[in-house]
This record gives sequence, C-alpha cells and structure tokens, in this order.
Amino acid sequence: MDTTVYVPAGRPAPASGRPHAVRARNLTKTYGKGEAIVRALDGVDVDFEEGRFTAIMGPSGSGKSTLMHLLAGLDSATGGQAFLGETEITGLGDKALTRLRRDRIGFVFQQFNLLPMFTAEQNITLPVELAGASTDRAWLDTLVETLGLSGRLTHRPGELSGGQQQRVAIARALIAQPDVVFADEPTGNLDSRSGAEVLSFLRRSVRELGRTIIMVTHDPSAAAYADRVVLIADGRIAGDISDPTPESAMAGLDALRTLEPAVTTGAISTVSGTGA
Ligand SMILES: Nc1ncnc2c1ncn2[C@@H]1O[C@H](COP(=O)(O)OP(=O)(O)O)[C@@H](O)[C@H]1O
Ligand SMILES: [Mg+2]
Repeated sequence: MDTTVYVPAGRPAPASGRPHAVRARNLTKTYGKGEAIVRALDGVDVDFEEGRFTAIMGPSGSGKSTLMHLLAGLDSATGGQAFLGETEITGLGDKALTRLRRDRIGFVFQQFNLLPMFTAEQNITLPVELAGASTDRAWLDTLVETLGLSGRLTHRPGELSGGQQQRVAIARALIAQPDVVFADEPTGNLDSRSGAEVLSFLRRSVRELGRTIIMVTHDPSAAAYADRVVLIADGRIAGDISDPTPESAMAGLDALRTLEPAVTTGAISTVSGTGA
C-alpha cells in the first residue's frame, strides 16, 4: 500500500509533533543580475523535524545543493530566513556562523575529504581536537560500532574502501554530537553496494542514535532510505513524500515533470496512490 502524499508548495508537511531542527521561510537565492539572473531558490518554506532522516530530491540544477548550503550557513541567502533550532542563521555574522557550523552542524560530502596522513580514528576525532575539547570515548565507541568500523581505526584512508572511508566521514560528522548532519550526494562516488551500506548506516544513526540527518540526492533508491522525501524543482518545494520507497520516490520525481505547473500554482492539494 502506497502512502505517498504530495503537499503543494507553501504548505507545511504533515505534523508529527516533533520539534523542528531546521526551518526555511521564504528562502531565496539568486545568482547574477538582469537578463542573466538565475533563481536558484525561489521562496522556499520547509521544516525538518528532529530525529528524522529526510532526503531532499530533485533533478540536476533544481537547487538542492543551494538549499543545503544556505541551511548549513555555508552560503548567504538573497532573501528570507533559515533557522537552526531557534537560531536564525540568516541573521548571523561570519564569526558566529563559523562557530555554529563547528559546534552544531556535521557535514558529509560526495568526496570523503579525509586527511590521508591520519588514521581513521584521528580523522574522526579531529573536529573535537580542533575545537580544543576532549573526545567522548563512549560516544566514539558507539559510533564505531554502529558504523561497522571496529578493526579499521588504525588504517589510513588509502587502506580503506570507498564505503569505509565514507563511514569514517559520517563518524567524523557525528563525533561532536551536532544538532543536524547535512549530507550532499554522500553515495555519489560509491558503487551501489557500498552506497547501500553507507545509506543503511546513515539510517541507523537516526533510528538507533537519535541523530537528525538531511541528505541531498538525485537518486530515488538512495532517497528511499530516508523517513521522508522533500521534492524540489526550479528552486521551489514541489512535493513531500512520507515513508518513501524507491518506487514512490521515482514516481515523485516523475510527477514533478508532469504536474509541476499545477503544483507550483497550488492547484493540487493532494495526490495519493502512485500504483507503485
Ligand atoms: N555559484 C553559482 N553561480 C551561478 N549559478 C549558480 C551557482 N551555483 C548554482 N547555480 C545555479 O543555481 C541553480 C541550482 O544549482 P544547485 O543548487 O547546484 O542544483 P542541484 O544541487 O539541485 O543540482 C542551477 O541553475 C545552477 O546552475
Ligand atoms: Mg548539487
């Protein structure tokens, strides 16, 4: 039974009662000027709940990375607001932003960005060391266990598979217990088996460790590991799928292409049952 629900632009997702880890209000980003202007984000309203794994999915160029960069304080908005918990990110100066990223946000990128001269363990604990704090050994052990990295901690990145390297990067993103982890196409450089492994570890981090993860992907089968898919098209929120399957995520992407004009004008309130 498919439970797909598309919510038109501007409406909040079905309420679950959980607090919101991240919010955007009328968030806008344009590049260039005049004739050459690109509206990468065009008035995005979206909420992401704590303790959930959400995928942001949309075609190439739809604004996924831009949205993630603005929500994570990696880039500045042209208009509107972004919040991390109660903190308005769009109102912060450079120093406060740097501190917020260090203390409250974890990042996982397509390139694993591990330091080749350091062991897996050193790579994982580096953010804590750089912040001048000491590593919580019990939390490190939990992460290593959950991410299946036992026995790999003394290896350098060059001695690890791509999937193992990305799991080290996930442990590094989680070591300082951030409020949220942003992952941009985390399986983009992995074969499908390692990709599936990494995705199930991301899901375990949410289910078993209570973490909050927002993952950008263009891949419906990756999105299906999440609890929810937020669809984006042409810089606007274009749909919302709870408990996605590869089929419903794919149907959502397809629906964007055919229903987009109706969805973006708010003409469609609910479309359910994709027959998947
Ligand atoms: N630095 C930039 N300068 C100009 N245009 C940009 C820049 N970054 C992104 N864009 C444009 O903004 C739109 C959204 O890009 P992006 O967020 O990277 O999409 P996605 O991650 O969904 O592929 C695209 O049209 C892209 O070409
Ligand atoms: Mg991108």
